[in-house]
Amino acid sequence: MSVSTLVDNHGRPINYLRLAVTDRCNLRCFYCMPEEGIRYLPKKELLSFEEIERLITVLAQMGITKIRLTGGEPFVRTDLMKLIRKIVTIPGIQDLHLTTNGVLTAPHIPELKDLGIASVNLSLDTINRQRFEEITRRDEFDAVMKTYDLLLQHNIPVKINAVVMEEKNIDDIVPLAELTRQHAVSVRFIEEMPFNGEGSHYPVLHWTYKKIHAHLQAHYPGLTKIPDPEFSTSYQYAIPGYAGNIGIIAAFSRTFCGTCNRIRVTAQGTLKTCLYDDGVLNIKELLRSTGDDSVVRESLMRSFQSRVKDGFEAEKKRKDHQPAHESMSTIGG
Ligand code: 5AD
Ligand code: SF4
Repeated sequence: MSVSTLVDNHGRPINYLRLAVTDRCNLRCFYCMPEEGIRYLPKKELLSFEEIERLITVLAQMGITKIRLTGGEPFVRTDLMKLIRKIVTIPGIQDLHLTTNGVLTAPHIPELKDLGIASVNLSLDTINRQRFEEITRRDEFDAVMKTYDLLLQHNIPVKINAVVMEEKNIDDIVPLAELTRQHAVSVRFIEEMPFNGEGSHYPVLHWTYKKIHAHLQAHYPGLTKIPDPEFSTSYQYAIPGYAGNIGIIAAFSRTFCGTCNRIRVTAQGTLKTCLYDDGVLNIKELLRSTGDDSVVRESLMRSFQSRVKDGFEAEKKRKDHQPAHESMSTIGG
């Protein structure tokens, strides 16, 4: 079957799948989960590796070229590397990326490099050990920093994801930005979304992308706008003389929907064509009900042809008529 460009009903190309391999996590980030965790899915509710492989094969035939594995924490899923070894061989998949919290990642870095991993996004909201423990409610700072060092040593492109939180890590914005002085990494500051399994922490979002930018600009008068890569969700900036760059992601303000090229599959096998929707297709049931890939393809296509135009519309169309509030680890980061 020939691969053509996959385009949604708003004329936006779709080429990027973010797939959550588990909803479990070994950290408890304040902005993602309540302290006691969330009710995790039983194993049989997860897509199996065989089902994931089949789904990606079908999607690759339809035009998906880029995959990001997320969670939860991907490395909490048993034998994740087995799945990764498979995915990189699927025809049409040009690049595989990972989002990880870095706790269990380090031992796998040499093999990830050998397999040609395109980049790793490391969740790191502070480089202060004590604040790390306050934010993640776990004492894993050293393991994460080891992962960071090893990624750099292996020349794997690294992006750091830092969620900006009032009263939690405002003092970390500049130290995190300073990582880009010596290291050719991208440090991305993300607006906090109300995806913590509980709802919003604040009546209104305090640290908007504009405020994050103003904070950085005040500290770095030379901060310069640089071109954003195609389909990028971040506004990119450079500090003159620094090796890396800075990104700001308006995840809550949702300024990027007009060029959204991505779809999501949650750990339980639900398709989301927008981060803010509550699931548009039960892929797990579909895969389990038919051995015929063309049936799967047709259902997927129908969902791609009835995509909402942006995250605000997605929120209005939710079945529970509530603003999006699930944990990010259920949604898939
Ligand atoms: N708001 C913004 N970003 C979030 N993430 C998780 N929860 C939230 C939230 N409530 C991001 C983290 C992590 C990725 C998996 O998802 O930055 O890197
Ligand atoms: Fe785990 Fe990522 Fe959620 Fe933190 S943000 S609790 S690392 S899934």
